[in-house]
Amino acid sequence: MSSPIATISRIGEHEGQSVTVRGWLYNLRESGKLLFPIFRDGTGLIQGVVAKNAVSPEVFDAVKTLTQESSVIVEGKVRADKRAPGGYELDVSSVQVLQKVPDSDPYPISLKEHGVDFLMEHRHLWVRTPRQAAILRVRAEIIRAARDFFDERGFTLTDPPILTPAACEGTTTLFPVDYFEEQAYLTQSGQLYIEATAMALGKVYSFGPTFRAEKSKTRRHLTEFWMVEPEVAYATLDDMMELAEGLLSFLVKRCLDRRRNDLQIIGRDVAKLEKIEPPFPRISYDDAVKMLQEGHQTGALETKFEWGGDLGSPDETYLSSKFEKPVMVHRYPASVKAFYMEPDPQRPDLALCVDVLAPEGYGEIIGGSQRMASYDLLVQRIHEHNLPEEAFKWYLDLRKYGSVPHAGFGMGIERAVAWICGLEHVRETIPFPRMLHRLYP
Ligand code: 4AD
Ligand code: MG
Repeated sequence: MSSPIATISRIGEHEGQSVTVRGWLYNLRESGKLLFPIFRDGTGLIQGVVAKNAVSPEVFDAVKTLTQESSVIVEGKVRADKRAPGGYELDVSSVQVLQKVPDSDPYPISLKEHGVDFLMEHRHLWVRTPRQAAILRVRAEIIRAARDFFDERGFTLTDPPILTPAACEGTTTLFPVDYFEEQAYLTQSGQLYIEATAMALGKVYSFGPTFRAEKSKTRRHLTEFWMVEPEVAYATLDDMMELAEGLLSFLVKRCLDRRRNDLQIIGRDVAKLEKIEPPFPRISYDDAVKMLQEGHQTGALETKFEWGGDLGSPDETYLSSKFEKPVMVHRYPASVKAFYMEPDPQRPDLALCVDVLAPEGYGEIIGGSQRMASYDLLVQRIHEHNLPEEAFKWYLDLRKYGSVPHAGFGMGIERAVAWICGLEHVRETIPFPRMLHRLYP
């Protein structure tokens, strides 16, 4: 094919010209002497028009018998058409079929509805559908925006290890790995390591895969997920709340600016996203408990929440449905949080921590805290949590050699994608989700 190669998302640049599109057949309609194949190339969809009297019988037949997801290279002239979804149509002049999906073994995902289990079994193919592809583009945009946000603010990216000798977020959710003669675990969070790099570089962040072996079967839990974690020397809890609301607002705005079309394909109500800008509401854990108890009184929550407990998924759903912006819940009881959190000097039974709950019932998307600066208290906490002191020797060194107040947080990329895209479940936010009972494909 002699015409220049064009991508569908930018086909308008070639209006009136002949172009080559390389992709797959998405769908085919027929109307008398006209064929209307819809092609996709990974950037979008375009409808082709094949008129029997305008092409050779071979081309007409090749298109007429084309099966869903057959790979094709098509040549045709780009024509503006206001009624067409992308604004353009392709008057097809020739077609080269690379591989035809056989009629005897058709593409398993038809354009009709399929059950979730079936789609998950065929995730390697499901990612081709326009909605799934749009979600993956938004995911990529969020990841890029998160990096830009920190890079532009003087943070240095420092990658923590994935194989680790000890727990960060508690011992109950570790994936063990046989590391030669030693016991290792897949990391739950890069935090402890970027506390070290923060003492070296001031403002750092990490962005990588993290693992939780929790047996949670909710719409928010993956066993493998990606986390972006900033860590800042000389920072406090308040600094982190400001950074968190800045980050989330930046991510949303970036998606509205650059991925509006994808959000539309996904069916997201963008009016809700337009409202996301700082400041976000901040409530204490104590206030949250009052709200949850009211929720129980009105019958919205089944069980009565008692002060001292950790928020469960239904609690977070309830709280976050009460706000139009993400809400920042701070100062939880230290007993329900990780060992490394600094106690509130005013009330040492509370931790200087924050969970950011996304609106519309999405629940926690960010968890963070000010870190414990005292060597003695940290040793005590490590013992209280039954953690092996030996494995934390290096971490304790950070409190021996120039300890400073410092703070950070982690944002789960998949939770952010689920919220920004308005998805029911995190399984659609990552190309190949890993969940309880899901290791294939
Ligand atoms: O609240 P978490 O457990 O916090 C930490 O890991 C801290 N060490 C982070 C830090 O301070 N540097 O996890 C942080 C975020 C959660 O708010 C959530 O968005 C996401 O990671 N997350 C999960 N996402 C998907 N599936 C899971 N099982 C998740 N567990 C946590
Ligand atoms: Mg958390």
